Amino acid sequence: MLTVAVLISGAGSNLRALLEAANEPDYPARIVVVGADREAEGLAHAEAFGIPWFFVPFAEYASRAAWGEALRDQLAVWQPDLIVLSGLMRLLPASVLEPWVPRIINTHPAYLPEFPGAHGVRDALAAGVSQTGASVIVVDAGVDTGPILAQERIAVLPGDDEASLHERIKPVERRLLIDVVRRIATGEIDLSTP
Ligand code: GRF
Repeated sequence: MLTVAVLISGAGSNLRALLEAANEPDYPARIVVVGADREAEGLAHAEAFGIPWFFVPFAEYASRAAWGEALRDQLAVWQPDLIVLSGLMRLLPASVLEPWVPRIINTHPAYLPEFPGAHGVRDALAAGVSQTGASVIVVDAGVDTGPILAQERIAVLPGDDEASLHERIKPVERRLLIDVVRRIATGEIDLSTP
């Protein structure tokens, strides 16, 4: 059974979908802990599913490095096989990356390498493209630059704004994420040879 830690910053709707999937008896992964960089709304989903949770408030640390060390220490308690970034709006410092890469994956609301960064949906709209997408990638030291594990195209519709487009992207992100975690757990995806 693959053990997973999920890190979030926001509402955690993708986290919730993964919690629901992992509750199914035949799903080959279990979420062992949920963490956040603030008192995120989405931590309530962990509570509802009886999963331990923590937050390491970025704002209370003197530097990204100090925050990263505190996050690394929390994760070390749980020793998950895989870390899933599901809407974590922070770059992870080396203290977190070094022990875990390539066992960290991230969901992104665009068709990478198009529109990396914190505003993937807004940037796609601003560029006027007719289609964008959703991606699941391996995290490396760059911003959304790691190997792509799964991705799918999504049309931009006339009249879309950032919220409406993002709400159409998220269900695809969820489906891709649940499938990628399952394939990592079964060995179909080998993160050591991406
Ligand atoms: C997702 O689109 C994720 O890729 C992006 O933020 C969103 C998270 O939404 N970075 P939620 O917190 O899972 O509802």
